Amino acid sequence: MAGVTNVAFRTLCRELELARTGTVSGLYVCEMVTARALVERHPTTMHMTTFAPDENPRSMQLYTVDPQYTYAAAKMIVDEGLADHIDMNFGCPVPKVTRKGGGAAIPFKRQLFRKIVAAAVRATEGTDVPVTVKFRIGIDPDHHTHLDAGRIAAEEGVKAVALHARTASQRYSGQADWGEIARLKEHVTDVPVLGNGDIFEPADAVAMMARTGCDGVVVGRGCLGRPWLFAELSAELTGAPMPEAPTLGEVGAIIVRHGELLAAHHGEDKGMREIRKHVAWYLRGFPVGSDVRRSMALVTTVAELRDLVGALPADVPFPTDGHGPRGRQGSPSAVALPHGWLDDPHDDAVATGGEELNSGG
Ligand SMILES: Cc1cc2nc3c(=O)[nH]c(=O)nc-3n(C[C@H](O)[C@H](O)[C@H](O)COP(=O)(O)O)c2cc1C
Repeated sequence: MAGVTNVAFRTLCRELELARTGTVSGLYVCEMVTARALVERHPTTMHMTTFAPDENPRSMQLYTVDPQYTYAAAKMIVDEGLADHIDMNFGCPVPKVTRKGGGAAIPFKRQLFRKIVAAAVRATEGTDVPVTVKFRIGIDPDHHTHLDAGRIAAEEGVKAVALHARTASQRYSGQADWGEIARLKEHVTDVPVLGNGDIFEPADAVAMMARTGCDGVVVGRGCLGRPWLFAELSAELTGAPMPEAPTLGEVGAIIVRHGELLAAHHGEDKGMREIRKHVAWYLRGFPVGSDVRRSMALVTTVAELRDLVGALPADVPFPTDGHGPRGRQGSPSAVALPHGWLDDPHDDAVATGGEELNSGG
């Protein structure tokens, strides 16, 4: 997730999974990077591709809008050993992106989508770096694309497909339609199908797999402020004992660790600016006063963060209403598209190459 799953957050998730279950079984994907910015070695983008020395596999996600940069980026990743897995994100619903034919608009243009996927697979041929893709159900209720996208991606040699079970016009609103994950699973039989949308509790993952037959799950907003969720998911899926939900004291220790990791990655200034949004997610549902929350939202040093966290009452149990959706929700709205985009799914002449960005999926 853009702005969230950088090396600091992934390290924290892995540490918590290891501490609570004795193993690391999740695949933790780097926040997405733009293929073109990677190829042009923009310093910010290169910094975003930082992995921990012991991170395995190193999973990088590309946001990409054309076959040329896709090939060049994937080739660079394998030639320079930048990652062990490449995922591609075709789910971004941001208007400034779809208006130019990028992000979630791409799968509608079947040929363009095929060429982009094929370019990544071709660049990784002869290596053991798998390519996977993630997409939505479609543009809107009248323009579903997921069944074609799954089939095309499998034909072009991806190793798995993931469906965010919303249309682009839904953004993050309403409920994900798990029935469409089941349809995709029936339609795509030669590669694993992963389901995504509304997994907020460990039981949701089991329910999604049981109801749709999908081979695995992808977690988005559920882990915001809850990096230990993966340990719980792992316990639920393997039948291991469920780790205790953390008390406020334990959440405080996780906040400090997150802050330290962010400061190590970004430097203290930017690291503390970054921790602020996470703190709001971490403290959700806990009885913490607005003055403490405000101080935390202005924190500028790790020492200050430690002091503020140290003053919290440690033995407050995890709130029963601390679960459920968090982060983006928004409301549905028509998808901005280039003129004539929906006229012909097979004609990509109007495909403009989309817009580059780094802001989410
Ligand atoms: C802050 C934020 C950033 C996101 N960034 C990405 C991203 O970089 N790549 C991606 O594939 N999806 C991204 N997403 C979408 C999520 O991966 C996921 O598909 C979506 O939130 C639905 O799953 P959920 O209901 O579990 O949250 C982002 C979502 C949020 C809320």
